[in-house]
Amino acid sequence: MEKGILIVFEGIDGGGKTSQAERLLETLVEKGFDAVYFREPSDSRWGRIIREKAVQNDSLTPDEELDLFQKDRRENVEKNLKPALASRRVVILDRYYFSTMAYQGAKGLDPGLIRETNESFALPPDLVFILDVDPGEGLKRTEGRKQRDLLFEREDYLAKVRDIFQGLQGDEFFHLDALRPMEDVGEDISRIALDFLEFFITGG
Ligand code: TYD
Repeated sequence: MEKGILIVFEGIDGGGKTSQAERLLETLVEKGFDAVYFREPSDSRWGRIIREKAVQNDSLTPDEELDLFQKDRRENVEKNLKPALASRRVVILDRYYFSTMAYQGAKGLDPGLIRETNESFALPPDLVFILDVDPGEGLKRTEGRKQRDLLFEREDYLAKVRDIFQGLQGDEFFHLDALRPMEDVGEDISRIALDFLEFFITGG
């Protein structure tokens, strides 16, 4: 391989995104690939601010959120993604700029513009798995914790987020029904990723 491969996992919460990303990492390592896992928001100082502020409560404006996610991403691209891909590693990335298009887009910002800005500095992914779940089901899986009213509000927001994810089309995007058993979803992901890697290694 001349360069590495970038595999991205996206989708609203409750689709088992992180578990599937970790499962694929294990599968690839078992098969002898030099694979590595990163996530966004990352562990940078921007990522930490995001986790403290943006995610916990709605204390930031959409533009402020956008700015933080993009600062975090610039750092992740430079510090983590570029070096790993230059060393021909397989990079598994848990969320990328499609999350910014979807989550900040659902707050009223322009997804097309967000994409353009991010593609000016972020490396293009080779594969994007979008784990699709109904927002109500996703919330049931992730939160036993929050109050009913809050959940309804959130469900409405996540429906918009999901719409934007569903609108992403192209050869690199794979939309998977993530309400199926984890095993089945995981098998689809492994098969698609391994087919791609084989194709890539043998030069197509
Ligand atoms: P998540 O991966 O769910 O983190 P955790 O495992 O800590 O729950 O991401 C945190 C939240 O950040 C999630 O609700 C989606 C949101 N997010 C954005 O709004 N924009 C972005 O660009 C990214 C990367 C994430």
